[in-house]
Amino acid sequence: MTTEITRVAIDPFGADIPAETARLRELGSVVPVDLPGGIPAWAPTGFASLRALMLDPRVSKDPRLHWSLFDEAKARPEWSWILGWVDVVNMLNTYGPDHTRLRKLVSPSFTHKRTEAMRAQVEEITADLLAGLDAAAAAAPGEPVDVKARYAQPLPMRLICELFGVPEHLREAAVRMMDDIFDTSDPSPERAAAVQEQIGAVLPALIAYKSENPGNDMATELIRVRDEEGGRLTDDELFYTFLLVIGAGFETTVNLIGNAIVTLLNHPDQLAAVRAGEVGWEAVIEEVLRVHPSIASLPLRYAVSDITIDGVTIRAGDAIVTTFAAAGNDPAQYGPDAAEFDIHRGADEHLSFGIGVHRCVGAPLARMEALTALPALFDRFPDIRLAVSADQLEQVPSFVALGWQRVPVLLHGR
Ligand code: HEM
Repeated sequence: MTTEITRVAIDPFGADIPAETARLRELGSVVPVDLPGGIPAWAPTGFASLRALMLDPRVSKDPRLHWSLFDEAKARPEWSWILGWVDVVNMLNTYGPDHTRLRKLVSPSFTHKRTEAMRAQVEEITADLLAGLDAAAAAAPGEPVDVKARYAQPLPMRLICELFGVPEHLREAAVRMMDDIFDTSDPSPERAAAVQEQIGAVLPALIAYKSENPGNDMATELIRVRDEEGGRLTDDELFYTFLLVIGAGFETTVNLIGNAIVTLLNHPDQLAAVRAGEVGWEAVIEEVLRVHPSIASLPLRYAVSDITIDGVTIRAGDAIVTTFAAAGNDPAQYGPDAAEFDIHRGADEHLSFGIGVHRCVGAPLARMEALTALPALFDRFPDIRLAVSADQLEQVPSFVALGWQRVPVLLHGR
């Protein structure tokens, strides 16, 4: 990568991701950035450039094979945080046949049919959580309730834990682990080591528990594959597939539901239109995903050979950060008001679940959860409103995740 180009440092806190992506877009369609700790990468700044790179077979996700700075990342303490994202052998960080093999182990559990079979469970959890909200409102009338902590978070968490077979006594530790992984605000080696230590405590405990207490769940099935189908799944791959499915299936959906609640409460006219049946909830969910993608950007991809795009050459071995928020807010794709939430827009395509071979396997499940949770919440609490002004809400400290720390609401509008 040429050194004379101005590099833009990405804010590790993700304090204002829309403003940051708009600034980057002014610099070009693919621009050099520094990730926390000064890790160089290329950032596509719009829909077309991101889409082209995600579909390009010359772009890999395997750092071991294709990142020229991988050894340096392992040697430099200030870069060690990135290893928690990329030196993790699962389908998200593999290329070619390894990716196909690892994805095939998990994808059958997430077909539309298998997802439909989980609907009753989602409805049951939703009803239980709504009853909990009722009880919280009755216990402290007029007091704000954090609808993220009490609704948006426990629904995907309980569902993924049941699907995967995470026992009750490990669930809280699993939630804390995922929150800490997505928190990119402190790239120090000490913090990276602490997160690794947490992963090293939770996952072996889970694998040990599931080995001794098998059930009708995904964890048990993956352990069986490792033990009985020699070579199809190594120890490391088992470990990191656990981490991926729990992580990808949980934090992302929490933020989809949380972002949708906040956005609708900030657009009461659009909320009224949905509640009146003028626009379907499906359109609301897609528009939330487009404007506020739960994954704003994701480390990392790598050029397998030189790639020239819009006059910029990404050299073989260079890293690329996958920029979903930039794509979703791109005026060249969605018009001058691209950054505005508009359920009437009818945008028929977004990249917030990815595209190509790494496309999200859990998209049908996430959509079904949101499609159940959102109408149920607004039906039960038609007068719900935010308990704070929009500018008092805090983004989670992350340039990867896009979501709110807390969503305090008044359930009965008073
Ligand atoms: C709103 C919720 C979700 C969003 C926004 C989301 C987003 C994404 C994106 C953007 C990718 C592609 C990453 C890339 O190309 O680098 C992806 C991959 C993936 N997602 Fe999701 N996801 C969500 C929910 C889920 C759920 C519920 C699960 C499973 C329970 C899941 C499991 C996965 C897995 C396993 C991959 C890796 C696929 C591969 O590399 O082949 N996701 N997700």
